[in-house]
Amino acid sequence: MQIAVLGFGTVGSGVVELIDRNRKTITGTVPEEIHVKYILDIREFPGNPYEDRIVHDYDIILNDPEIRIICETMGGKEPARTFTEKALQRGISVCTSNKELVAAFGPQLMATAKENHCSYLFEAAVGGGIPIIRPMNTSLTPEYITDIAGILNGTTNYIMTRMERENVSFEDALKQAQENGYAERDPSADVDGHDACRKIAILSSLMCGKTVRYEDIPCEGIRRITTADMAYARKMGMAVKLLGRSRRSEDGSSFYVRTAPFLVPADHPLHSVEDVFNAVFVHGTMVDNLMFYGRGAGKFPTASAVVSDVMEEARTLGTTIPCTWSSAETMQLSDPSQECFRHFVRVSGKDEDAVRNVFGDVTFVTAEGAPENETAFITAEMTEKCFEDAAARCAGVIGTVRLL
Ligand SMILES: NC(=O)c1ccc[n+]([C@@H]2O[C@H](COP(=O)([O-])OP(=O)(O)OC[C@H]3O[C@@H](n4cnc5c(N)ncnc54)[C@H](OP(=O)(O)O)[C@@H]3O)[C@@H](O)[C@H]2O)c1
Repeated sequence: MQIAVLGFGTVGSGVVELIDRNRKTITGTVPEEIHVKYILDIREFPGNPYEDRIVHDYDIILNDPEIRIICETMGGKEPARTFTEKALQRGISVCTSNKELVAAFGPQLMATAKENHCSYLFEAAVGGGIPIIRPMNTSLTPEYITDIAGILNGTTNYIMTRMERENVSFEDALKQAQENGYAERDPSADVDGHDACRKIAILSSLMCGKTVRYEDIPCEGIRRITTADMAYARKMGMAVKLLGRSRRSEDGSSFYVRTAPFLVPADHPLHSVEDVFNAVFVHGTMVDNLMFYGRGAGKFPTASAVVSDVMEEARTLGTTIPCTWSSAETMQLSDPSQECFRHFVRVSGKDEDAVRNVFGDVTFVTAEGAPENETAFITAEMTEKCFEDAAARCAGVIGTVRLL
């Protein structure tokens, strides 16, 4: 079975190498041996063992009737969208690691696949090597899922682990991440939460069947988190994690999605997820709590997820693999100002009475090494609106973090 790979970068090269290295394992479970016939890239790769398969013209791939499956590992919206559409229109199944494209055009591309009796799969688009899309689409289909909380970005988790363990500032931890190749020179997609936001948008869409637009999701990154927040968190037996969170009431009347740093208590399975690792916590009303854990990025972990899609498409040629997220209709999210949380707050000064006057009943917190002349506390559960109103009435709020 001849396939093509679009984009010979980190993930694309991993796909090509993995198919060779695990040839025996793969061949045993698909109807025909899988062979990468073409690799599309802009650059030349002189001396590369796969140099002879590099092409620069997409039409060569599209017009070759032997090509049955395409892996899109280029990234970005265009030309990835056009290339994907053209392939699907010809009945060529496509699988991708491109979360940007899936979050923006997933249901449209899946509809094109259905019309043409082929599939569009995206296991690698969320959580890198962690199998989460397929479980959502198969094992968990009888479940009424009420809660998904994910550490969905390895870069920010690495940065916060460095801040926590080594007591270094956000800026220094980011520099370490860049030096070790875990963060881009422009880190904003990661540290401002946009990457995690796209991934929770995809998971939320799978959870509710309609399209959760990532533009509708309140999104905060980790730039404002300090080592003082970490010191208090440690004292309380918690850890600060950037989470994509999606939850709905059991009667389905409200559906909240948010990307933000959260304080995660020690008894929650996400608490111990450190460094570049990712994890997705899922709660279903029948199955109860589940946790999916692994490497959320990297050449081979991500390629492993892409190749799992290739193999599933190879086994099901001529049909469309169903997806719980089938509608391009937008899911109306509940008003985020009505979502309820407890908040951890730091304010300047030592006036506990003033804090109680504004925030009501609170629990005060102290921590070794925390800055002097400030007061830290945890509020009772309240809506975001109530909390914001109170915070606006309180002089000198230094920082706030929600509790999971
Ligand atoms: N890296 C990871 O660990 C990881 C994990 C999960 C998901 N992903 C996603 O997977 C996708 C690929 O990521 P990556 O890290 O592999 O990126 P990458 O290393 O930059 O690879 C992309 C490759 O595609 C090539 N390319 C770009 N536009 C092209 C075009 N129009 N025609 C032909 N080739 C083109 C690039 O060439 P140039 O270098 O010349 O531009 C590059 O070789 C992205 O959507 C990313 O978000 C990555």
